[in-house]
Amino acid sequence: MSIKVLLDESEIPRQWYNLAADIKLQPPLGPDGKPLTPESLAAVFPMNLIEQEMSTDRWIDIPEEILDILYRWRPSPLRRAVYLERALKTPAKIFYKDESVSPAGSHKPNTAVAQAWYNKQFGTKVLTTETGAGQWGSALSFACSLLGLECKVFMVRISFDQKPFRKVMMETWGGKCYASPSTETEIGSKFLEKYPDTPGSLGIAISEAVEAAVSDKQGTTKYTLGSVLNHVMLHQTIIGLEAKKQLAKLGIKKPDVIIGCVGGGSNFAGISFPFIHDKINGEQIEIIPVEPASCPTITRGLFTYDFGDSAGMTPLLLMYTLGHNFIPEPIHAGGLRYHGMAPLVSQAAREGLVTPRSIHQLECYKAAIQWARTEGGIVAPETSHAIAATIQEALKAKEEGKEKVILMNLSGHGHMDLLGYSRYLAGDLKDYELPQEDIEKAEAELKDLPKPA
Ligand SMILES: Cc1ncc(COP(=O)(O)O)c(C=O)c1O
Repeated sequence: MSIKVLLDESEIPRQWYNLAADIKLQPPLGPDGKPLTPESLAAVFPMNLIEQEMSTDRWIDIPEEILDILYRWRPSPLRRAVYLERALKTPAKIFYKDESVSPAGSHKPNTAVAQAWYNKQFGTKVLTTETGAGQWGSALSFACSLLGLECKVFMVRISFDQKPFRKVMMETWGGKCYASPSTETEIGSKFLEKYPDTPGSLGIAISEAVEAAVSDKQGTTKYTLGSVLNHVMLHQTIIGLEAKKQLAKLGIKKPDVIIGCVGGGSNFAGISFPFIHDKINGEQIEIIPVEPASCPTITRGLFTYDFGDSAGMTPLLLMYTLGHNFIPEPIHAGGLRYHGMAPLVSQAAREGLVTPRSIHQLECYKAAIQWARTEGGIVAPETSHAIAATIQEALKAKEEGKEKVILMNLSGHGHMDLLGYSRYLAGDLKDYELPQEDIEKAEAELKDLPKPA
């Protein structure tokens, strides 16, 4: 029995898979309600990434220079969670892609490196971004340091306070990190005036990072997003494409169940999109995005056009959303506290290609502890959502007496997230059910925005 399946550098996938070739998306809209043109995004993103964002080519070559950076940790291992299987006494075979082995500790560098590289090609000097849990900010700082770019990160205040060492990681790679809302931007200052004690949100931090980019009159500062957009999903598909090759080495043609946690959707897209391609072509696979019950974007949100940020600076995207003014409870899975969902993941859910699930944080921490005491690793609180669903599915397979193959994405380690573990172990955490009134409030706020055709 193989517990680790490794690929040689020569076996790394050389093209990304673009789901936009296989499912039809409605276009993002500008402030005038008309479909966005590439030029209208040029203040924020470099044209080479805008082209990728709008591309419907099925396969896109990965430049050699990007692969040369990724070889530091890719191809990432596919591991079999036999120790957890034994503890659960399940007939299921549980495999997981271990994205925690990247320098920053998560899947995020897969797109950070690609985005920094395309920006560098374009002539960008400074990159701005937001970060929730700090994983994305660390990943971008790492990528910028390798490519000689400056990096400015707006980190959601609650995470900034809970995870001070993330800031140190960013600074070690040469990045600058500000607690958001900050006084660095007009939008941040306004939020702080109105809500001085706000825990912040990804939506506000995005607004700040976009403002910091577009206010550079020389045009050499650009904005990067760590999730949600099509090109980010694209860069992450290397995860699922590697997993396919690794499963094939074991003689497994396809998993029965695929599981990933979802914040903006990118690690889930990474593991699942290459298999959604197979599902569209007739394979039977259950594909489960898992979100926090306190921020239930796909399971309870609205499918409509909404802004990606709180201040309404981004284009309108057709997606599942809890409304751009939604400020989620300060749960420890900071990277899952986002009001929206990637348009590609949203459309896949709309078409029934994926079956979303929400889980409360206590069940997730319980699962993460079981994982740590069987498999060994201490996972990020975001990842614990995928683990909780994996355990649910493994126990279901036991009940049904089926030898299912489950593939999960282990999106990151939790070495910087120990405060959450300590609060859970001390019994200080509780679950939070989002009241229906909050969804109704979002519905009322979104009613005047354009509706899908
Ligand atoms: C470890 C980890 N997993 C998952 C996520 C959620 O993001 P996404 O849905 O884009 O993968 C984050 C975001 O910060 C993260 O740090």
